[in-house]
Amino acid sequence: MKKIGLFYGTNTTKTAAIAKKIKEAFGSVNIDVIAVEDASKKEFESYDNIIVGVSTWFDGELPSYWDEVKPELESLSLEGKKVAVFGLGDQVKYKENFIDGVGILAETFESVGAKVVGFTSVEGYNFENSHARRDDKFMGLAIDTENQSKLTDERVKNWVEQLKKEFD
Ligand SMILES: Cc1cc2nc3c(=O)[nH]c(=O)nc-3n(C[C@H](O)[C@H](O)[C@H](O)COP(=O)(O)O)c2cc1C
Repeated sequence: MKKIGLFYGTNTTKTAAIAKKIKEAFGSVNIDVIAVEDASKKEFESYDNIIVGVSTWFDGELPSYWDEVKPELESLSLEGKKVAVFGLGDQVKYKENFIDGVGILAETFESVGAKVVGFTSVEGYNFENSHARRDDKFMGLAIDTENQSKLTDERVKNWVEQLKKEFD
C-alpha cells in the first residue's frame, strides 16, 4: 500500500487520540500523522492515500483549525487520490448535528476531485440528523467517545481493515 498521510484537527485532543489508535491498527503500513495546523497545501497533495480526522463543534461546525484550513482545501488538486474521513461527535447531546464535520470535509474533498472511501453503516447509532449521512451510510467512520466508548476499538479495527482494501 502507498504511504498514508493522516491529518487531524482537534479542540480537546480526543480526535488526536483516535488518530493514534488508527495508526496503531495499520501496523506496519507507512503512515504520517500530522496536525492540520502544521500542514501545508503541498503536503496534502503529496499523498495518494489520505485520512482526515475531525470533530464537530457548536451545532454542526468544524473545529477551529479545519475551519481555517477549509478555504485552502478548496484550492487543492486531488484528482486520483483517495480520502477517508473519521469523525468524533456526541449523538445524544447533538443528535441533530451528529458528526456533521465528517460530511462537510467529505464534500470538500470530493469537490476537488478526490474519491472519498471508508463509508460505514449508520446502524448501531441513534441520532436524528447528520450532514455526514448519505443514504444508509456515513461518509466515513463515526466515533462517539461520550456514549459508545466501548465500541471504539472494534470500530477502528474494522474501519482500518476496510481501508486496507479500499486504498491503493
Ligand atoms: C460545545 C460543544 C459543541 C458540540 N457540538 C457537537 C455537534 O454539533 N455535533 C456532534 O456530533 N458533536 C458535538 N460535540 C461533541 C464533540 O464533537 C465531541 O466531544 C468530540 O469528541 C470532541 O473532540 P475533540 O476533542 O477532538 O475536538 C460538541 C461538544 C461541545 C463541548
